[in-house]
Amino acid sequence: MRRHFGDPDEIPVKPFERGLFLRLMGYVKPFRKSLFIAGVFMLVSSLTDLAGPLVLRYAIDSYIIPRNILGLWQIIFVYCLILVINWVSTYYNTYLATLTGQKAMFALRQKLFEHLQVLSFRFFDRRKAGKIMSRFTNDISALNQFLTSGILDVVSDLIVLCGTILLMLSMNWKLALVTFTTLPFVALTAAGMRSKVQAAYRDTRNTIADVNSSLQENISGVRVVQAFSREKVNMAGFEQINRRNFQANVKAATLLALFMPMVDILSVLGSILVIWYGARLVVAHQITVGILAAFLGYVTRFYSPVRDLSQVWGSLQAAMAASERVFEILDTPPEILESLDAVELTEVRGEVEFREVTFSYDGESPVLDRVSLHARPGEKIALVGPTGAGKTSIINLLARFYDADAGSITLDGTEISRLSFKSLRAAVGVVLQDTFIFAGTVRENIVFGCPAAGVEAVERVARLTGAHEFISRLPKGYETQVMERGVKLSAGQRQLLACARALLADPRILILDEATSSVDVSSEQAVQRALEVLMEGRTCFTVAHRLSTVRNADRILVIAEGKIVEEGPHRELMARKELYFRLYLNQLKELD
Ligand code: CTP
Ligand code: MG
Repeated sequence: MRRHFGDPDEIPVKPFERGLFLRLMGYVKPFRKSLFIAGVFMLVSSLTDLAGPLVLRYAIDSYIIPRNILGLWQIIFVYCLILVINWVSTYYNTYLATLTGQKAMFALRQKLFEHLQVLSFRFFDRRKAGKIMSRFTNDISALNQFLTSGILDVVSDLIVLCGTILLMLSMNWKLALVTFTTLPFVALTAAGMRSKVQAAYRDTRNTIADVNSSLQENISGVRVVQAFSREKVNMAGFEQINRRNFQANVKAATLLALFMPMVDILSVLGSILVIWYGARLVVAHQITVGILAAFLGYVTRFYSPVRDLSQVWGSLQAAMAASERVFEILDTPPEILESLDAVELTEVRGEVEFREVTFSYDGESPVLDRVSLHARPGEKIALVGPTGAGKTSIINLLARFYDADAGSITLDGTEISRLSFKSLRAAVGVVLQDTFIFAGTVRENIVFGCPAAGVEAVERVARLTGAHEFISRLPKGYETQVMERGVKLSAGQRQLLACARALLADPRILILDEATSSVDVSSEQAVQRALEVLMEGRTCFTVAHRLSTVRNADRILVIAEGKIVEEGPHRELMARKELYFRLYLNQLKELD
């Protein structure tokens, strides 16, 4: 199993890697037909582009100088025809190339999203959401740029460049050679400047990723930020990140502004050279005026492919870096895998056993140390202990959000790692500390785990958990839209929804990670009642902060530093006067 424990955003970038390139091309392959057609249009567009100066040559030499006005009209007509063909083929070339690139990007983005859905908790533990998002946006758009225009542009530039060179040589090789003397200068300046411009652009992409990531963090954490009046500090922090992005962009723009005129200046120099030498050839009757005019036309056409070709390397490099980051996610295997000979559980009794379970998040410092426990069907178990003791970790393992490093966890005598995902998810229900409400309607949020459930079923569980009362007071009842994280719902209401959601899913084993502080006393009672309904007849593991939950549990496990240090019902543990006794007294004191 491949586990990443380093910083996932520090990926070394090689300028060009064949395997990576071929893999990237693999995403274009399904569209090779439309890409081919785009290529044909591009060829037509390049050729008609090349025809312009040639037409000018014949117009001057064969019609203007001999004063053949009728013939001139004919050639103007031919020229217009060529322009129309050029216009139409350029249109189809651009359209098809863009369409193909967008289709490839669509497929890649979809694949990336599907893969993210199955990646394990550990993957997300180590990454900022903003950084993952920037791979979806910035990196994919860098790839898009390369795939849509990059590849076809190279071919078209090469055609135009070779065509121009051949046509010039065929008209007059001496004048052609004089013109070509400027070429190395253009190529060198372009290449030199380009690498700087590309580096600057890379900086802009990296810094915008930081901006996104910081923004995302501050939006998700806005409550904490304001609660602790961290606004000033965060603004300063953001200003720094934002400024880095600003500076990177200014630098890139400055370089680009410097670079563009340089190529233009060289192109003007080329034209001057053609006029200077060409005029002498005309006077010496070695070439016609038409040829000189055609040369002037080709000189200007000749620099843009040179300039563009010098950019290709840079955009290739950017695409390589982007694809490396995108493929890195695609190549991260999901850690939690369904067993090949997965077992389906039909009748779940709800017996859970941990045997000598050892676990760590980072592969080094153990968080759980040889934990053994046994829960009979229907037993209510409370997990208590100091913060960071490992309570949430125990239930994370039971829900198979992570796999244990050693030991075994069984459900009705079967290893949970051998159960099919469907059986496990149906058997084990989770109500988390911080209930996540998705954008959608109240009803959609309740049927989250079982989309097939009908309206009556939803209302039944809502009534049982006591959520129906507040839902029916909402403007559109069950069809009211709630926002991400349930901004419009109170913490208590969100918990009632979570209870209804879990009750509808009807798992044999229930995991509750209680939140203490988020609910006030009056809604606390409502939530408490909902939980009692929900817990009825199920094996329950509750990370308990509420004294009532703890007291009513059949058995209490006291966790400290990754071990079960005490175990038994409330009365017994109180009588022992050890850790549990102290924790309990502390809580009572806080309530005063
Ligand atoms: N931990 C970690 N990586 C995570 C989650 C937790 O390294 N993704 C570590 C924590 O730093 C902690 C230990 O694992 O030291 C146990 O965490 P947890 O089981 O979440 O502790 P709880 O007992 O649930 O603590 P609390 O009461 O505060 O929820
Ligand atoms: Mg916890």
